[in-house]
Amino acid sequence: MLKFINDISLRTKLLFSSFVVLFFIMITVNSIALYTIYATLVYRNSLRNNARKNMCVSQLKFSLLHKDIESIKNILYEVHKNSYINYLYISVLKNNKIGIKHQLYFGLYNEKLIKNIPPDLIKHDNKIIGKVYIQFNIKKELQLIRLRVFWVAARFYLISFIFICIGLVIFYFIISKIIEPLLLLKSNMMKVSNGDYSVHIQPSSKDEIGSLADIFNSMIKNIKGYIDKIDLISKEREELNCMAQMGEMSSMVAHEIKNAAYVINSSNKYIKNNLHAKDKNLIEFINIIEEELKRLNNMTVGFMNFAKQREPKLADINLNYIINESLQILNYEIKNVNIKIIKQLDNSIGLIKGDRELLKQVIINLLINAMDAVSNINDPVIKIISSPAYKKDKISISISDNGEGIKILNINNVFKPFFTTKKSGTGLGLAISSRIVLLHKGLIKAERIDGFTVFTVILPRRIIL
Ligand SMILES: Nc1ncnc2c1ncn2[C@@H]1O[C@H](COP(=O)(O)OP(=O)(O)OP(=O)(O)O)[C@@H](O)[C@H]1O
Ligand SMILES: [Mg+2]
Repeated sequence: MLKFINDISLRTKLLFSSFVVLFFIMITVNSIALYTIYATLVYRNSLRNNARKNMCVSQLKFSLLHKDIESIKNILYEVHKNSYINYLYISVLKNNKIGIKHQLYFGLYNEKLIKNIPPDLIKHDNKIIGKVYIQFNIKKELQLIRLRVFWVAARFYLISFIFICIGLVIFYFIISKIIEPLLLLKSNMMKVSNGDYSVHIQPSSKDEIGSLADIFNSMIKNIKGYIDKIDLISKEREELNCMAQMGEMSSMVAHEIKNAAYVINSSNKYIKNNLHAKDKNLIEFINIIEEELKRLNNMTVGFMNFAKQREPKLADINLNYIINESLQILNYEIKNVNIKIIKQLDNSIGLIKGDRELLKQVIINLLINAMDAVSNINDPVIKIISSPAYKKDKISISISDNGEGIKILNINNVFKPFFTTKKSGTGLGLAISSRIVLLHKGLIKAERIDGFTVFTVILPRRIIL
């Protein structure tokens, strides 16, 4: 039975419970009402019988005094006609003029019975002038009362039945109002279990069910956030794996190209040194070959470095020192082209865990790019700013320049390997930098702010590799 109740739907359970409650209320109310009606009718009946008896006695007294036998008969007849009476008997005392022969009775005359019943006395001047024996047929009267109560009960139960039906219809709508949001929640949960995280429930009320919808929405939002994060991490992993595989293959190819370039370069040098011809064009072509080989060599070396995966050697480092060291390295070039350097290094950034050499490589790459960007402009400026970020959980380093900036078309490509707009560039500087930042679980971004091209590197203080 319990299992059956557990298995039926919530709507049926609630409807059935409502029916049981309504039925119980109906039975209780009807029983109380019918019992009250029955008791009242019985009481009223006994009052009416007494009244009849009293009336009969007073009318008989009058008739007896006037010796009006006909009227006595009429009175008795009337009383008998209007009520259920077992018997009605009047006896007149012997010394009275009417005499014993005027005893009258209706119904079954039973001397024994009359003796057991106290008569109603008819008195005049304190003298008893007659006795009236009346016994009402209570059994029959009660039968009649019960019949009346039965019909009242039938009407009561019919009306109650109609009320139960109306009540059940009202309950059905109320229960539907409660159940529908739950069904909506269920169908949305099914969608979520099938991998659809775009679901959103509009809370239909501000009650507990409404807040359930709010909780559901925020839960889905959190799950979606976690899934996006997992997606991002696995994408990064995939990218790193793919790059590692590509790097391995490509570095082998690059190595072979480098060797071939070395041989070509040596041969070219030999030709140049032993060339006796005075053909200027020939010498120029040999120089071009030399120049291009140099570029090819640079590119393959750069690429091999890029492809080379090395685990960062973590140590406690101060990024402000690394910035100063990088500026020191580039000091000669900076002075040469007269670039104004604005340095705002925040001492509160503290130490972070990172690879000193790799991070220096990032700063130098960004500085060289900034120097390239301002090489052809008047009043070149490069700003280097370090500061704590994200409630001191991270550190932000930004290197900006007032150069021409990155073309909108190129903005998404600058971090891709081999993308370059420079004649002698390899297009690996930013790709390597972004790889290093990624290894440190940080991020790098390029923006244009107030006429400056800003490269920002954000690094976490602690890295869990
Ligand atoms: N500060 C900058 N201002 C404008 N453009 C920039 C800046 N930094 C990078 N770029 C653009 O991004 C491209 C890629 O830069 P990246 O450092 O990867 O390679 P590169 O500088 O061209 O060559 P190299 O390998 O010698 O560094 C550049 O060619 C340039 O177009
Ligand atoms: Mg560069």
